[in-house]
Amino acid sequence: MPEIYLNNNSSTKVDPAVVSAMLPYFHEQYGNPSNLHIFGRETREALEQAREQVASFINCKPEEIYFTSGGTEANNFAVQGILRAIIDKGNHIITSSIEHHSVLDAVMFLEKMRYIESTYLNVDQYGMVNPDDLKRIITNNTILVSVMHSNNEVGTIQPIKELCTIAHEKGVYFHTDAVAAAGKIKLDVADLGVDLLSLSAHKFHGPKGVGALYIKEGVKIEKFMYGGEQERGMRAGTENLPGIVGLGKAAVIAQQHLKDGGQEKIKSLRDYFEKEIITRIPDTKINGHLTQRYANISNISFSRLDSKTLLANLDLAGIMASAGYACAIDPLEKSHVLKAMGVSDEYNSSQIRFGLSKYTTKQEIDYTIDILQKVVVKLRNLNLSNT
Ligand SMILES: Cc1ncc(COP(=O)(O)O)c(C=O)c1O
Repeated sequence: MPEIYLNNNSSTKVDPAVVSAMLPYFHEQYGNPSNLHIFGRETREALEQAREQVASFINCKPEEIYFTSGGTEANNFAVQGILRAIIDKGNHIITSSIEHHSVLDAVMFLEKMRYIESTYLNVDQYGMVNPDDLKRIITNNTILVSVMHSNNEVGTIQPIKELCTIAHEKGVYFHTDAVAAAGKIKLDVADLGVDLLSLSAHKFHGPKGVGALYIKEGVKIEKFMYGGEQERGMRAGTENLPGIVGLGKAAVIAQQHLKDGGQEKIKSLRDYFEKEIITRIPDTKINGHLTQRYANISNISFSRLDSKTLLANLDLAGIMASAGYACAIDPLEKSHVLKAMGVSDEYNSSQIRFGLSKYTTKQEIDYTIDILQKVVVKLRNLNLSNT
């Protein structure tokens, strides 16, 4: 039975070179970076090297990188940290209706507690925010705009530079969740102009449970975790050193992969996959933007079927994919992203997200196309005979 992993927007295989870089920090160099002895000094050096690697990955200064336990913490830190620091300036936060729940639920909770007022930017049928909408809803009371760089369910890339300029014209901070984009698109915070940006290692062949928040020098932000003085007093808690070393190494590898045109290869395989599916299986629909979309993702709806049954049949054939977002336990839960894009219930509940990686082969894609065609025909016929 083959094991074909097409769930790379949920999590990725850790690159073997990343594992090798991490290993010594479990059993050889296990000192606490806050200690002054030799073991402490060695791990401090590794910590600072990883900071430089991540800074180079997104083109910022190493002092602007704060390590976290992943994308979820980075997003919560950004949203809650800005509010805590400048609540006297205003209490209005703008975000979009297609954010990851680590932004959406944080904003909703703050509103429920009556700490803030929030407004959500809508998206069009391709999952794209309209900058003119931001111009209309931003007020003198707005303190933060948080719009994801690229969407994790359909891959649509947002006009971040434009949105950021609009926020800055009003003197408002701009945060972007770049967890889905990292490793697939070159990220340059100086060019984008953002004040805060979130990253997570496990989306680009690094380990799970580690990420970073970029905070531009001078941004007023309050800490989110209380305790020790780690991360220059901004993020308490003993550093996850093996994880951070892994994040740094994964950033170096991803940077090189982007330079070498690795994503173009993935894109041609993804485009081939979609072309075959659309021509060979009737009543299918690709969700997301056709051009403003990163390379590895393919979100497809197969009408008259449900995602759960389809996924179970693919799993039986050794193909791993997902429906909706990575953290949804119930695969039948409808996607809030597709809903916001105006996708019908029928297409929403029959969507599958395929995610390719640098490890995906043409042979695996050909096998997946054949199986999908057989399974869809079989299930649709079964549905017909049951009605
Ligand atoms: C867009 C986006 N933001 C944030 C997260 C959360 O990141 P983590 O899993 O590192 O907490 C995810 C994970 O699926 C994501 O896709």
